[in-house]
Amino acid sequence: MAMDVYGLLGNPVGHSLSPPMHEAAYDELGLEARYVTFEPDEDDIDDAIAGADALGIAGLNVTIPFKQDALEIVAPEDLAARIGAVNTIDFSGSGPPTGYNTDAVGALRALRDHDVTIQDARAVVVGAGGAGRAIAFGLADAGATVAIANRTESKAHDLAEEVPRATGHGLAELEQLVADADVLVNATSVGMESDTTPVPADALHEDLAVLDAVYSPLETRLLRDAADAGATTVDGAWMLLYQGVEAFEIWTGRDAPVDVMNDALRSRL
Ligand code: ATR
Repeated sequence: MAMDVYGLLGNPVGHSLSPPMHEAAYDELGLEARYVTFEPDEDDIDDAIAGADALGIAGLNVTIPFKQDALEIVAPEDLAARIGAVNTIDFSGSGPPTGYNTDAVGALRALRDHDVTIQDARAVVVGAGGAGRAIAFGLADAGATVAIANRTESKAHDLAEEVPRATGHGLAELEQLVADADVLVNATSVGMESDTTPVPADALHEDLAVLDAVYSPLETRLLRDAADAGATTVDGAWMLLYQGVEAFEIWTGRDAPVDVMNDALRSRL
């Protein structure tokens, strides 16, 4: 096939920013490639992935509600298997397609891009859903100790049992945890399209780096409070960017044109 086809499997995928972000990279590097969206019915996910493989599609991103299903269909890499979700599939090998989770690495690269050190950092992850799982595993693998705080405290404890060097907490403990932390990540939906924050502003301090996985709005109340406290702030578009950068690099084996992808993304947010 002369033209490489990449895509996103999700339902719904209408508003996705991945096509313009990836196509900006293809244009920049002169690659003959396209990135398109697919919206299969929930029951058809096995056929969709097998069909993509048969058609010679080069790579797929996978989003809600298919990330857990995809894990069962492809051969997952170790980190994706432990997270329990696949968001990137590479069809280029001769065997079964390989599944990756670039959400975890995306969060790490977003932080490192802002000169945040992860090794030996004390990290607090708020949220124990899909995003919280990926980020907690990513931070722990990169050498941080991770305190997971969640509204439903039992979910934080359950996740902490799986993640190395992690502890589980309720939201009432957040203030103390954040006071002692180097890195804070919001992996809840709190702050999305609303001026609310999951973390009391008083707890934020200047020795903290704060990543918000929420990217709408870009400047959440949490990030505004963090900036006021003198903390380093990393908005959710960086995480979105770097999960895509990581997928691009897995698929093409080339360094992604990060600035071009960032511009394509931010001009649409
Ligand atoms: P995602 O895949 O984006 O992580 P999810 O799996 O539905 O989505 O998880 C949503 C997360 O946001 C959970 O940690 C959830 O807390 P619960 O486990 O207690 O439900 C958290 N969350 C959502 N709304 C919240 C709110 N108003 N206050 C605190 N946490 C909230």
